[in-house]
Amino acid sequence: MEKIAEEIKQLVDEINRYNDAFFQKGISLIDDYTFDQLVERLKKLENAHPHLKHANSPTQKIGENVGKIFPIHAHRYPMGSLGNTYATEDLAQFYARLKKLSNQSTLDCMCELKLDGIALSIGYKGGEFVHMLTRGDGKKGDDISRHLPIIKGIPKRLKSIPMTKKEFYIRGEVVMPFDALDQLNATYKKAGKAPLANPRNAASGLLRRKEVDPLLSKSPPLIFSPYSLHGENLAINTQQLALETIDSLGFRVLSRAHHCKNFDDIVGYIAHWEEKKDTLPFLIDGIVIKVNDLRRQKEMGSTAQRPRWAIAFKYKPKAEKTSLIGVDFRVGRSGQVTPIARLLPTLLQGSQIQRATLHNADEIERLNLHEGDTVFLVKGGDVIPKITGVDRRHREKNQKKIEFPSHCPSCHTLLSKERGSVHFYCRNRKKCPAQIKNRIVHFVGKNAMDIADLGEKKVEALLKKGCIASSTDLYLLEREKLEALEGFQEKSIKKLLQSIENSKKQPFSRVIFALGIPHVGQTVAKKLALYFKKMDYLKSAHFDDLANMEDVGPIIAQSICDFFHDPDQSKRIDALKNLGLTMEYIPLKKEKKVGLPFSGKNMVISGTF
Ligand code: IVH
Repeated sequence: MEKIAEEIKQLVDEINRYNDAFFQKGISLIDDYTFDQLVERLKKLENAHPHLKHANSPTQKIGENVGKIFPIHAHRYPMGSLGNTYATEDLAQFYARLKKLSNQSTLDCMCELKLDGIALSIGYKGGEFVHMLTRGDGKKGDDISRHLPIIKGIPKRLKSIPMTKKEFYIRGEVVMPFDALDQLNATYKKAGKAPLANPRNAASGLLRRKEVDPLLSKSPPLIFSPYSLHGENLAINTQQLALETIDSLGFRVLSRAHHCKNFDDIVGYIAHWEEKKDTLPFLIDGIVIKVNDLRRQKEMGSTAQRPRWAIAFKYKPKAEKTSLIGVDFRVGRSGQVTPIARLLPTLLQGSQIQRATLHNADEIERLNLHEGDTVFLVKGGDVIPKITGVDRRHREKNQKKIEFPSHCPSCHTLLSKERGSVHFYCRNRKKCPAQIKNRIVHFVGKNAMDIADLGEKKVEALLKKGCIASSTDLYLLEREKLEALEGFQEKSIKKLLQSIENSKKQPFSRVIFALGIPHVGQTVAKKLALYFKKMDYLKSAHFDDLANMEDVGPIIAQSICDFFHDPDQSKRIDALKNLGLTMEYIPLKKEKKVGLPFSGKNMVISGTF
């Protein structure tokens, strides 16, 4: 049971991290396929063990935080999302269920391309544009009307005044066509900025900006493609007619919608676009299949913000082939050994790939990897590439099988794994050079003490020359010693020493995170800082107090107790304290409130209470 609880916790954290990046920053850290598989796994575990479900589980919510930059506006009709599948069998089940629900032997559907961009709801009244809202949390979205000038295909005034005098809404997807992305990247390159790889992220980035760039309005890089119409008394009875009506109002439906009269038609449409999707001027991530009859759609309704009358069919990511040169086994700061594939450099969706994660020993076994194998490589969004299979036809007899090492590649200690775990560990926590190095790299990292001028290479050099043996020694580094080292110039030494000194001012939560307590990530570190306020209180915290905290639980609680019971860690923390690091929570100074009617005035209230 503990293993399951741990897996659920890991999935919740991982998926929430991806969702945060996606909805808050517009970045995909993972490809859709792998992401959807993680969500499916979490749902399955939660259904089997409902008492282990977390309150902050991503299965309980959709969408993004609203109102951070733009004014918020409620959606007149909620904006849901679609259930999805990658398998034709699921689609057949979906179609059979719909036929049964509507008591018919065949069912008219509309198939449309699923454009990969940002969903928008655009309000019109009396034929005039009112506002455009993002999906937000489905109930309310950001009013991003100020970005209208950078989007093509959204008329301010409609060609004809539609049937209703009331407000009505056109919904659709905003995308950045590939040629616009190329143009934008050309200007980024001139300005010395890193190019954007993914048009969806690029579109999201532009729409998140507070101000509109007048240069972009001259030739709008984004385009809107509508897919639905919402309002009262619209006298439209099919999705097909809805799309035709939207078109006649002055929009352009880019989704190559097709009326399918039976299941074969749907499968044909999917197969057609699977082959042709790379010829489109914009990115799609699948197709959408919708019941055509709008009255039936209404009858079928929805569950958990997902309509029963529609589904997204997604295409599995396309693989590239390359050669496996070998596998490196990386020993992380906790001693966990992770295999990393070294590949013959290959171009995958615009970037040169030469390494890919292999996760663990089971994955190497599953793939039955041999040196020199021809492997399939996939990547989506900005994600780390993954090896999905081996092309066995190219395997030759004398190729050497990849074996997971029995001993630590860094310190040669025998590796071991806990029962039920998939990971091997080097248990030589205190002496293993790789673990020591990676703990220091973690300590100086961007989200920890943020000692910017100290990368992995420099940490390695300092360790090798005996200038440091642990993160504490960083604060004792002397200029003269550094000057004697190769690769350390006067200017960079000055910067490095300054950034080490500055790091002493990092807040308490970062110090907790930097310590490298197993299982304690940034979120938990922040909660611990806020709850315990002082390192001394945290050091002597009881298991029960910790385990009862939100986001902590028994596994992390035990890990924290074990960590602080280690006398070496105690000594280390005392040393860091004496060196001047922040060992208590200091609340941010409250900003002076201005404009309150009675601020700064003393008042006397008289009368009877
Ligand atoms: S219909 C209840 N049609 O896909 C939602 N959605 O995961 C009904 N999308 O948020 C949406 N192309 O932004 C529909 N032709 C299309 C679409 C489409 C892209 C997006 C949409 C939605 C997401 C669902």
